This record gives sequence, C-alpha cells and structure tokens, in this order.
Amino acid sequence: MLVIQNLYKHFGDIKAIDGLALTVNIGEILVLMGPSGCGKSTTIRTINRLIEPDQGTILFHDTNILTLNPDELQKIRKRIGFVFQHFNLISRLTAQENVMLGLVMSGMDRDTARNKANEALTKVGMERNLHQKPAQLSGGQQQRVGIARALAYEPELMMWDEPTASLDPILVREVLVVMEELARYRASTMIVVTHELSFALRVADRIVLMDKGKIVEEGKPSQVFVNPTSAIGQKYQELIEYQINTTAKSLSGEK
Ligand SMILES: Nc1ncnc2c1ncn2[C@@H]1O[C@H](COP(=O)(O)OP(=O)(O)OP(=O)(O)O)[C@@H](O)[C@H]1O
Ligand SMILES: [Mg+2]
Repeated sequence: MLVIQNLYKHFGDIKAIDGLALTVNIGEILVLMGPSGCGKSTTIRTINRLIEPDQGTILFHDTNILTLNPDELQKIRKRIGFVFQHFNLISRLTAQENVMLGLVMSGMDRDTARNKANEALTKVGMERNLHQKPAQLSGGQQQRVGIARALAYEPELMMWDEPTASLDPILVREVLVVMEELARYRASTMIVVTHELSFALRVADRIVLMDKGKIVEEGKPSQVFVNPTSAIGQKYQELIEYQINTTAKSLSGEK
C-alpha cells in the first residue's frame, strides 16, 4: 500500500531523514520507535506532506504523493487519517461538531456528516458525550474525539504520532484500549509512533526502529525485542527486561 524510497529531509545541518526506505502492507500494524529526535514525526509527516521532503518517492497505491498537485493531494489526504499528540480540538464546538467539521468542509451534507460523526464517536466509546465541549471532557476523552475525527473519513491508512504522550498515566490506558480495539478490526492500515512498549509488544505486526534519520532494524516484536541486532534494539530489550524484573520483584515484595 505504501512504499517509501530514498527519502531525505534536512533542517539546516540536521539530517532529520537520511535515505529512508520503508514498505507498509495493507492491513499491517506497524509501530515506529526510536530515541527522541531520530526522525519519527518528520517521517510520518512527509507521508501526507505536512512536511515536504527534500528528495525521495512515497508511493501510496502506486501514486507518488510527492508529485501530486494541490487538488490531488487534498483527495489523497482524505484517505489518510492522522492523530496527533495534541488533539487541537476547537473549543467552542461540541465533540460531535468537531468531528463533523472536516466532513462538512469537504462537501458532505450535514445530516450524513452528523451520522458519520456519531458512528466514529461510538467506535471510540464517546456516544454519551456527543454534545460536550472540549473543556467538559478529560484529556483521554478529548483524544478519543481526535481519533474519531480521523476515523470519520474511514481512512485506508491511519497514522498516529504519540497519541498518548500528552495524557496523564491514568488516562493513557483508555486511549490505548481504543487503539487496540481499532487495530483488532483492521479496518485500516496503521503506522503508530509510540513509546508505549506494552502496546508495541501486543499489537504490532512489525516494529521499525529508527536512529539518526535511518531505519536501523525491523521485524516482529518477538524478534526485535528478543534478539535485537541494532544498538537501539538492544536498549529496548534491556528496558523490557528491567520492567519485567522490577515488576516481578515488587510483586514478590523484594527490594
Ligand atoms: N521544523 C523543524 N525545524 C528544525 N528542526 C527540526 C524541525 N522539525 C524537526 N527538526 C529536527 O529534526 C530531527 C528529527 O525530529 P523529529 O521531530 O522527527 O524527531 P522524533 O523522532 O519525532 O522525536 P520525538 O520522539 O522527540 O518526538 C530533530 O533533530 C529535530 O530537532
Ligand atoms: Mg515526534
């Protein structure tokens, strides 16, 4: 579905993406991980050209996104959903209106848009909060509205950029549960940037590890986190072992 080749992006002296190549198959759940600043956000933002890369090819079903004119790009963007770390909801609109807004702006009639919004909000467990404004919702609920906004387009590809990173730990879980549920449907292909190791372990078909603008390792979670070949992979493996050991120790009352 998606084939990225030879992708480069620099900001001044910084090589944010440095010759990246990546293929994503239909229905696949891909989790992109790596240290802060390694280029994860830049990479996924180039896919719908929120960031224009310097060079490369991004084929989405054989169409090169990087050569599309603005009208064509607009059409393709509707097939690609994006969930951000900061939900960017409009404060004077209700949950339902926030989800409807983009649909109506893209020419859908209000009744159809309202039905689609309600359907998407139901999928994220927000059917009882349709008429609440962002200030009346918790952070987790606001992010679920953000997810519904992307889902309402029924995108073929969903991209997630650290969707739980702005939430307090208690609220993280409710958003991860929704994400896992969506992943289980496999209604769309997913590229998820996250630092949530347990989500990556349970849900990913493939883990892709980046470092300094390049992909340094990829494979099934059982391979990447158990027999890593890269330095970054080894760091994640150590982190998982540390978490398992400390949890086991605290359960057994050991210090
Ligand atoms: N608009 C920008 N202007 C200048 N430098 C940028 C810009 N966006 C990103 N960078 C730089 O490009 C590199 C890659 O950034 P990017 O945001 O893609 O990293 P990331 O892997 O998403 O990190 P994090 O886990 O912290 O979100 C970093 O060194 C960052 O400082
Ligand atoms: Mg980022």
